[in-house]
Amino acid sequence: MHRIAVIPGDGTGPEVVREGLKVLAAAATAYGFEYETTEYDFGGDRYLKTGETLPDAAVEELRDHDAIFLGAIGHPEVKPGILEQGILLKARFSLDQYINLRPVKLYPGVETPLADKGPEDIDFVVVRENTEGLYVGGGGFLKRGTPDEVAIQESINTRKGVERCIRYAFEYTRRRDREKKLTMCGKTNVLNYAQDLWLRTFEETAADYPDVETDYAHVDAICMWFVKNPEWFDVIVTDNMFGDIITDLGAMIQGGMGIAAGGNINPEGVSMFEPIGGSAPKYTGKGVINPLAAIAAVQMMLEVLGEEQAAQALDAAIAHVTSEKLESLAAGKTGYSTAEIGDMVAERVASV
Ligand code: IPM
Ligand code: MN
Repeated sequence: MHRIAVIPGDGTGPEVVREGLKVLAAAATAYGFEYETTEYDFGGDRYLKTGETLPDAAVEELRDHDAIFLGAIGHPEVKPGILEQGILLKARFSLDQYINLRPVKLYPGVETPLADKGPEDIDFVVVRENTEGLYVGGGGFLKRGTPDEVAIQESINTRKGVERCIRYAFEYTRRRDREKKLTMCGKTNVLNYAQDLWLRTFEETAADYPDVETDYAHVDAICMWFVKNPEWFDVIVTDNMFGDIITDLGAMIQGGMGIAAGGNINPEGVSMFEPIGGSAPKYTGKGVINPLAAIAAVQMMLEVLGEEQAAQALDAAIAHVTSEKLESLAAGKTGYSTAEIGDMVAERVASV
């Protein structure tokens, strides 16, 4: 029995989560697994009413589940940063979800802005460190608001944190079993301390994985190659900030936020899965948003829950819908309603 916590969140979050759960139900019936869900109302509305983001007691409840399915966080009436830090980052940090796993996969039939590139060229995974670096919040002000103001923002990198991320990436590359190539994305030519630790740890850890080919690229060059030669990549490992940036670029080359999903993984604890796009307030309640990113998040969740067959079926069902049905992935341009897309994927999962 899988116990899944569901946080639909803000804006279009609840609409896409509904479709994700519809597909999960179809997969459970077709593949014979059981699950139960607990819903939580964390998000902008609750914050505006109660001042609460993600209370400590709720974190403890979340910890008691096998996975978390999150819709979207972000409310037009809440100052930027409060919900992101109070809910999303708080969950990632307090549940020690030290990996942010982001597949960049161009499904068949999906339009990419890259000329002459197809699904065979765009299929790699970014392993982003998710609990350290610039996201820790280290630093401070001196003489704030004066002409002599100093602002310091520190990137915190620990040997333990870097190594567990890199080790996960090597294991993942081995398990993925494609080109068995792991590229470290960094900035060793400028960031002498943090990136020195990263590269040394990468090289030392590589000795334990002789079957995995290793490569290194600077983050700026990676941006260039995502556009020019995405086929060069199999798995990429990188720090929190670089990973944040390059995965938005990755999302665009795989067809946009309508399809991009991510997993916040604690390999020894509870992981959280989310469509990586925002809450899209302007489309809220219109039934036009494309739920495939949320459905892809369910697909990743099934993999981590050990429902391999169901996860594969779901991947195939998404590919069927993108190649045979949808006109576009953009909100309002898919040719179907949000619920109809969920229905099509669910039917396909049930029929395999
Ligand atoms: C992401 C988001 C978050 C991040 C924000 C909302 C804090 O951009 O999941 O990539 O920077 O990690
Ligand atoms: Mn981001």
